[in-house]
Amino acid sequence: MNDIKIDYTNAMADAIGKKHGVSESELDGLAPQAKEALLWLQELRAQKTVGFFDLPSIDTAPFKKFASRVREKYENLVVLGIGGSALGTTAVHSALNSAVWNLQRKRKRNGYPKLFVPDNIDPDWFDEILRHVDPKKTLFNVISKSGSTAETMSQFMIVHHHLKEKLKGKWKKKVILTTDAEKGVLREIAGEFGLTTFNVPDNVGGRFSLFTAVGLVPLACVGVDIDSLLAGAASMAERCLNKNLRENPALLFAALHYLADTKKKKSISVMMPYSSKLAGVADWYRQLWAESLGKRYDLNGKEVNTGQTPVKALGVTDQHSQVQLYVEGPFDKLVTFIEVENFNRESVIPAVFTDKPTLQYLAGKSLNQLIATEMKGTEYALTTHNRPNLAIRLPKLDAHTLGQLLFMLETATAFAGKLYGIDPFDQPGVEFGKKYTYAMMGRDGYEQLKGELLKSAGAEKRKTV
Ligand code: PA5
Repeated sequence: MNDIKIDYTNAMADAIGKKHGVSESELDGLAPQAKEALLWLQELRAQKTVGFFDLPSIDTAPFKKFASRVREKYENLVVLGIGGSALGTTAVHSALNSAVWNLQRKRKRNGYPKLFVPDNIDPDWFDEILRHVDPKKTLFNVISKSGSTAETMSQFMIVHHHLKEKLKGKWKKKVILTTDAEKGVLREIAGEFGLTTFNVPDNVGGRFSLFTAVGLVPLACVGVDIDSLLAGAASMAERCLNKNLRENPALLFAALHYLADTKKKKSISVMMPYSSKLAGVADWYRQLWAESLGKRYDLNGKEVNTGQTPVKALGVTDQHSQVQLYVEGPFDKLVTFIEVENFNRESVIPAVFTDKPTLQYLAGKSLNQLIATEMKGTEYALTTHNRPNLAIRLPKLDAHTLGQLLFMLETATAFAGKLYGIDPFDQPGVEFGKKYTYAMMGRDGYEQLKGELLKSAGAEKRKTV
């Protein structure tokens, strides 16, 4: 059995008391709403308005075929995307491929290209990456569902200009586009120049799009076993259809977070993997939980201002940075650990410095034992200080368990949205910021908004020192 497990003992009142822990009766009390959430998702699937839950059965053949060509031809793959168009790729790549992937020779990478995901527009940083990669040996995958995101499109425009200068007409072979099947300027550009494209399904939002071409194409290109990733997601999908709240991992994760937030004032959700390779998953979760659940209005238009603040932490590193706060600071957090029960390697601490008695307790033990013990230590410290915590346990870290984990978190996010009574699939707050950028950067159609913004900026007195 390769199933991941959620251990929620320490989130419950039995372990940490009623004030901070969820009681069995509170969980029972939420069961009808949880059942409704399950039915609601089933309905959305049937209406085809929400597509993410059915992605585990996506046809991967075209992605794998394309990836084998990329493997033969390219030294570098550069993904130009942001938010949901970038975070999943980074999370899976860093979880499953070597920590020094880009430093290794091609042979060591099994012939696959290096991967760069410059998901920011820091001009220095982006230029340094662009100058580093040889245009002849580099493929650029521009990923934007809307085709209008200013960051991605400006990067694409820079890359296009750079490639045209270096390669003339051959630039077209070095760019592929992943975007909406019909709409958007990227789709227009693809048609005009005959570029290779992949589709983002209309009913899958950015942060739920990892298991589409958005994530699967670049991941297949760097050798990730995408079929195994999807098989893991599929096995989790089955578990997430269970009507029993205590047997459905996504429903339980959602319910515990919802109750912790609304009944126990735990307004912060900390995601703390005890694995550097899973640090990217915590980044990905941060976007998923924040953008999906942080909403001003509920579905009836009532102002509710929902959402826990997701925080990323890393075990053991943040034991020396954050854990003091988590153990003794405000009672406002629900901490989720991610544990890898069996690492792929065993790293034994040798018996050296034998004349130093204070170090001998480490000799002959392993980093594996040390990291497991330290996680237990943090669980223990939190629990004895009445701080709720959960542990998601992965028997080992591979494509299958990772697929389960990511799919569980996506589904839990959708369920949590229903429990809060908000729409987890929209992001009006993000769009608000995007519109500001369009207006102030002079995009056609945004003249009136620009005028209003300039007026209010002029009226405002800056406070500076
Ligand atoms: O989840 C979302 O919808 C967002 O985070 C988007 O992924 C992000 O804004 C990028 O959008 P796009 O893919 O349209 O460029």
